[in-house]
Amino acid sequence: MPDRYDVRRRGRSVPSHAAEHIIDTSASAAQEIRLPGLMPFASDQEAREVIDLVTEVLNDAFAGIRRHMPNGITLAMLSGGRSGAYIFKAALLAEDDQTSGGFSAVVKIAPLGAGISEKANYDQFVRPFLPTACRPELYGFATAHDRAALCYSFLGDGDKAETLTDRLAAGDLASLDSVLSSLFETLHRCWYGAGQAQAETDLAHYYLARYFRDSGSATAAETVLFGYAARYFGARRCVQGYRIGDTVFRPICETLFAGHAARTYTSCVLHGDLNSDNIILRRGRKLAGLVDFQRTGRGHVFHDLVAIELSVRINDPSDASFDDILEIERLIALGEQCVRSHPYAAAIFSIRDTALRLFDLDAVPSTYQFAVASIGLRLMKAIDLSDAARARITASVLWSARSLTEH
Ligand SMILES: Nc1ncnc2c1ncn2[C@@H]1O[C@H](COP(=O)(O)OP(=O)(O)O)[C@@H](O)[C@H]1O
Ligand SMILES: [Mg+2]
Repeated sequence: MPDRYDVRRRGRSVPSHAAEHIIDTSASAAQEIRLPGLMPFASDQEAREVIDLVTEVLNDAFAGIRRHMPNGITLAMLSGGRSGAYIFKAALLAEDDQTSGGFSAVVKIAPLGAGISEKANYDQFVRPFLPTACRPELYGFATAHDRAALCYSFLGDGDKAETLTDRLAAGDLASLDSVLSSLFETLHRCWYGAGQAQAETDLAHYYLARYFRDSGSATAAETVLFGYAARYFGARRCVQGYRIGDTVFRPICETLFAGHAARTYTSCVLHGDLNSDNIILRRGRKLAGLVDFQRTGRGHVFHDLVAIELSVRINDPSDASFDDILEIERLIALGEQCVRSHPYAAAIFSIRDTALRLFDLDAVPSTYQFAVASIGLRLMKAIDLSDAARARITASVLWSARSLTEH
């Protein structure tokens, strides 16, 4: 099997199973793109289109930084991308054609609309506001057909960036603390601060529009949630909603989204999808940087912090029985400090302490609980969660929604 393909001129195929491909991408064949390992493309045509777009965005990036496009570029797949994007690390080969030329970049190939939004959000909210230490540089942008490509500087120390998810999954809550104390202080100065704050009228509309097509899709998520509540905590339906033991819970969507007087909230500029995959640790974990700006813009002030809470619920490796999970989430929702002796609960409290420190949480504690319930409900659609993660999220949605009906 040949290991060299000239994609543009001869239109040769790129097999998805070969160990390494070398693709000449220019008429002069001066530039080669190497693709070690398995490639994810569904068809030869997709492979050709993606590689052409990678070449184009790298050309744009190199023109922007006034360097020549190098002879050899190795692409390593970083992630298949939850959002339907392909993420590659592009390493430049030095003269000897083997070793790294000391420059690496990340190329994100996204669906056209998502990529265009990410570029617009970066230009409007990221480059002008965030210090360079906590963001990648956007070097290049290109579009073709139904895709967009963004070329960023690589954030991170090693071959593959270490994310906060990696540290949470390793039970390293110290890394969470350092993100909360350093990154969030910076975000508060740049994005969340009083200068950006704006009064808004309808919190239910904000989360419904953001995460659910319509109220029917929110109700479908609640049906899934009830199934988990029944499985993990023995929940049963009752006239008022659900019952677990002696405790009654009103239906979640009715509490959150059904026509009460609109709940006001404060908005600011925020990341908008701040799960722990999008926080990269660098310089020996002393610095944290953000990636993935597809949803960056104005939003509910607690949205980013609650997204981090959800990441702790998803990734924390500690073990507990389902009964204990239900009780721990009850104590967390009530703000009972005694549960701080439990490291998982202490991590959630440290996020809420940050919310208190940065925002006037006391003024509107209910909008924080509202965000926990709404974002948790949306995660009922996720298919790749562990039972412990689902149980924690289910319990946190039930207790936080219940705290709203009690206020
Ligand atoms: N500039 C970057 N430097 C280092 N790693 C990155 C960079 N951008 C993305 N990544 C890695 O790729 C993953 C997916 O990228 P992301 O932009 O979040 O795509 P998606 O929209 O699919 O979530 C991230 O979680 C991170 O691990
Ligand atoms: Mg992401």
